Order: sequence, then structure tokens, then C-alpha cells
Amino acid sequence: MTPSASSAVREDPPQGTNPEPVDPHYLRDITALGDTLEIRARKAIWSKSRIKLVDRGVRIDSRLYERLMQFKLQPAIEECLEIADAVSVEDLRRETIRLLESDSGYACLREPAANPKAVLSVMGQVPIDSGLAVRMTVMRERRPAMYAHAVGVAALAVCLAGKAGIAGDRLRRAAAAGIYHDIGEMHVDPQLLEPVRALDENERRHIYTHPLTAYFVLQEHDCCSGGVADAVLEHHERIDGSGYPRGIRGDELGKPGRLLALAEMSAAFFAPKLASGALQRMRVVLRLNHRRLDAALTDMLIDVVQKVAPNQAAPEPADSAAVIAKSGAIRAVVEDWRQLHAAGGEDSAAFHWAAERMRDLERALHEAGLGILDADALAGVIGQDAVACRELAAAVREFGWLLQEVVNGVYRDPAVVPGERLARWASMTRQKIAA
Ligand SMILES: [Fe+2]
Ligand SMILES: [Fe+2]
Repeated sequence: MTPSASSAVREDPPQGTNPEPVDPHYLRDITALGDTLEIRARKAIWSKSRIKLVDRGVRIDSRLYERLMQFKLQPAIEECLEIADAVSVEDLRRETIRLLESDSGYACLREPAANPKAVLSVMGQVPIDSGLAVRMTVMRERRPAMYAHAVGVAALAVCLAGKAGIAGDRLRRAAAAGIYHDIGEMHVDPQLLEPVRALDENERRHIYTHPLTAYFVLQEHDCCSGGVADAVLEHHERIDGSGYPRGIRGDELGKPGRLLALAEMSAAFFAPKLASGALQRMRVVLRLNHRRLDAALTDMLIDVVQKVAPNQAAPEPADSAAVIAKSGAIRAVVEDWRQLHAAGGEDSAAFHWAAERMRDLERALHEAGLGILDADALAGVIGQDAVACRELAAAVREFGWLLQEVVNGVYRDPAVVPGERLARWASMTRQKIAA
């Protein structure tokens, strides 16, 4: 069964070997890095069909790319390489210190309540072996923003795990899950990961595979046994079943996965620097997503960031005209949905999935007390209260994102085809939200 927008049935973790074909992006990064950093084969590199491709001791660089690309390699290439100045636990610890001392949101981890000493100590004990060190070195050198993100998510996850009473090996595993959570993205075309890039359905499905790719990679590393791969597999899952790649829900999403999902979602507000008003926006977003995330962990996170909120510069005033325009677009999308639903919708898995998501979204909005679907109330609040106006701006923006996620989810599983009316609503929603 492919990961499905409609998946409500527990699926066991995937078995066997990575079904993904050889992709060029990771190999291109490794060989290109070899042009500037000394990388050598510490043992011969073989194809899966037992053809010797590179002798032991040979220097690896971009001239070998074409040859290596022709074969599926076994073992994985990073197992055969030694690399100068490879990432070590000391490097991970140093990068954590750099983040804590930067003007990013990770500065909140310097506060005594976040127990920075303990966080740094755990970051200096992340399980890493030579193959993972090669991977992380390629990430650090070729995708530095991804590397900083990995370290930041890990530090945040460790802080939250510590506050939740997790200790010892479980804490080190939380750090490892944070560090390795996006190694699957190293197999994704970097152009698809650029924030401004508009993706088609196939490109989006390609990105949805990255937790699965990372899961298969980590299963090959004994130092990450004990649930690290499972947590990584679950880092884009949500408690209400709206996440990917498997759409698991409720207790199917384990505590380590919940922890990682929350740290990962919050990290977007922290870096590369803490923007004005980012923490206020984060609190609004967490409130709107409270059915999708672990409630107790979310409260802990809000408590940690609260400590730095007073030190933040006053946010820019929200553009009230833009807020009103955007909320009008959202109101129209919700109204279109209600009409579609009232007309009986359609009997497809994609429709039932979207119906559940739309019901939850409307409920989240009202529970958050944001009432942006009421035009009169909205205009009144915007006219009187700058803080509430900024909250509404954040809520409207997040609600727009969540609606886009519903539309993306409708098309997530290529085996589930939306009917004509649902497809029309999805298309109109994309246009109205983007406008
Ligand atoms: Fe991530
Ligand atoms: Fe990810």
C-alpha cells in the first residue's frame, strides 16, 4: 500500500531494502566535494552485481561521478570512504554552541530553564559511525543550511526530551533522530527544496519520500538502533493522521516521533535568525495545530520560548488590508467547501480525507478563539488592537498553509484520484490562497 491521503489503518514500518532507484544528487554532492576536500576509498567500491568500480586508496572526485552513477553500489558508498575533517561529535557540539550564541531563536536554549549544559553534553554524545560521519560531512559542506537545521532541531529535541523526563540513551537517541532526520533530503534534487519553487504533484511526492529514505539508511547503522529510524520516519506525521509518508494517527505516532515532529515544525520559526514577531507567530501556529501535535510537549516548548519573548524587538505592525484580503479568500474557500459538502461531495477516499481535515481545521480555528471567518468581528479587532491584529495575521497565514496542505494531501497518493468536483475545489483553493 502506498502512503495514502486516506490511510486510517495502522501500517507496520516498511520492511526490506530501499525501493528507491539510485538517485544522482547524493552521489553528485559526494564526488563534487572530493574536488575540494580529500576523500579516499578506504576499501574498494563494488557494484551490487560484484563489479569492482574503484580500488582501495583511490581519491574520489567529480571525475568518478559518471562511472559510479551507472551502478547500484553495495555497500553504500559512504561505508567505503574516508574523508578529511569528517564531522565528529565535537563538531556537532561546536555547531550547537554557535547556534545558541547566534541571533536565531535557538538562543532560547541558553536560558537556565532550557538546561543548556545538559543539552550541550548530550549533543557531544550523538551516536555516529564512519558512514554517518561521511554523510554529515557532505551535508555540512554542500548543504550548510540543512546541517544547521539538523543540529538546531536536535538541540531543541534534546531540551524538550529533558524537560519531559527522558534521560540516558533515550536522550541520545532523541539527539540522533534530530541530527539525521533530513538525511533523506540529500537524495532529493536541491532545486525542489528551494522555498520559492512551485512544485507539481510528482515533485511533491518525491519530497514526501525523504523520511522513508532516511529510515532505510539508518536501519543499516547499528549505532542508531533502538528507535532512531522510527522517529525519523515519523517526523512529518501528525497525530490527526494528516502527515506523511504513512498518514498514521493517534498512538501510532510514538513519543520520539512526536517530539521530533514538534521540534522540526518549531525550528522553522527560529532560523536562520529570529525574525521580529516570530515567537508570537509560532505560538499562534502551535495553537492552530494543537490537535496535530503532542499537547504536553507543545506546552513545554511554549514555556521555553516564553523566556526569550520579552527580549524580542517589537514586531512590525501587521498589514491590516492584507489580513482582511487573505481572510476573505479563506472565507470563500471554506464557503466553497461547505457547498461542495452540502451537495453530497463525492464518494472517494480523497474526499473523505479532505472532509475530515476541513472539519478539524474549522474546529481548530474556533477553538483558538480567532474567529476569522466572521468578517465583522475581524474588522472590529483589526481596528482596535495591534497585538490581536498581528495574531490574526499569523493565524490567517497559517490557515492558508493548512488549506494548501489539505489540497496537497488530496493528491498525495497517486493511486487515489480525486473526482471532478473535488479537483475543481482544490484548484480554486490553490488560486485563491495564492492570490
Ligand atoms: Fe527538517
Ligand atoms: Fe523532513
